[in-house]
Amino acid sequence: MAHRWSNDLTPADVTPRGAWMNRRQLMAGMTGAGLVALAGGARAETLEPNTWEEITSYNNFYEFGTGKDDPAAYAHLLKTEPWSVKIDGMVDRPGDYDFQDILSEMTIEERIYRFRCVEAWSMVIPWNGFELADLLAMAGVQEGAKYVAFETLYRPEEMPGTRYPVLEWPYREGLRLDEAMHPLTLMATGLYGKPLPNQNGAPLRLVVPWKYGFKSIKSIVRITLTDKEPPTSWNMAIPNEYGFYSNVNPEVNHPRWSQASERRIGGGLFAKRQPTLMFNGYEKEVADLYEGMDLEKYF
Ligand code: MTE
Repeated sequence: MAHRWSNDLTPADVTPRGAWMNRRQLMAGMTGAGLVALAGGARAETLEPNTWEEITSYNNFYEFGTGKDDPAAYAHLLKTEPWSVKIDGMVDRPGDYDFQDILSEMTIEERIYRFRCVEAWSMVIPWNGFELADLLAMAGVQEGAKYVAFETLYRPEEMPGTRYPVLEWPYREGLRLDEAMHPLTLMATGLYGKPLPNQNGAPLRLVVPWKYGFKSIKSIVRITLTDKEPPTSWNMAIPNEYGFYSNVNPEVNHPRWSQASERRIGGGLFAKRQPTLMFNGYEKEVADLYEGMDLEKYF
């Protein structure tokens, strides 16, 4: 790992030198408003990451079944080598990029992020990965591109869950270009310094910490730059429940349950629910992106 930085620092991370260096590295690539926002966001808050066991045994990955333990039971069927990612659409250098070649070009960091599922459970996860902005720069985003669309691998013989039409396969997600370029937006390749387990979306998955977990699409094989808002799986399936934006927002409830609080995985059955934070605690960093937007309408 070339360097490490996390938005939320654990006790082990709070060494003044480390915090200073990492913030400075981040700032080096940033301009005005974003710089101030991130400096404010790099607060020394104590967040205890979930255990490896918790993060890798309680999952959503419907290509392997809809049970929380199905991904851990069946994702070993997924062949992740060789792996390539098609980057196409409005880019200067479209093509099939080999995963190992991508890795050799990217700087891998550790980022400890809150992770909030739309189902109102949450974890704290120490990811390893690189900024999506760096991958997009490699492909060269063309003027006029406004959105980024993502697709998961669809290989039914390795994905027993795809026999059921729970969702329209392949799983699809999308971001506005400015969301995709935000320095918090990560392409995760690892967990706790080890390669990403299949059930967590090996070898490459998106992590957008201020959005509900379903935006964080797993096992990505295609990234398309486009000028139109791309269709996304959960929105296609149940449009009145799952919007394109899906920003974590304790004030906008899911039609069938409250989003005001969450159950932290690992807290035990009788643990108190904790309040959900606006933009999952990343408000200082990302609120700018949505200035003037009606967040109830664009849920
Ligand atoms: N990506 C794919 N391809 N298929 C899925 O079913 N589930 C999403 C998201 N990415 C999903 C996916 C949902 S609902 C959540 S909450 C997170 O993955 C879960 O990530 P985790 O299992 O690593 O905690």
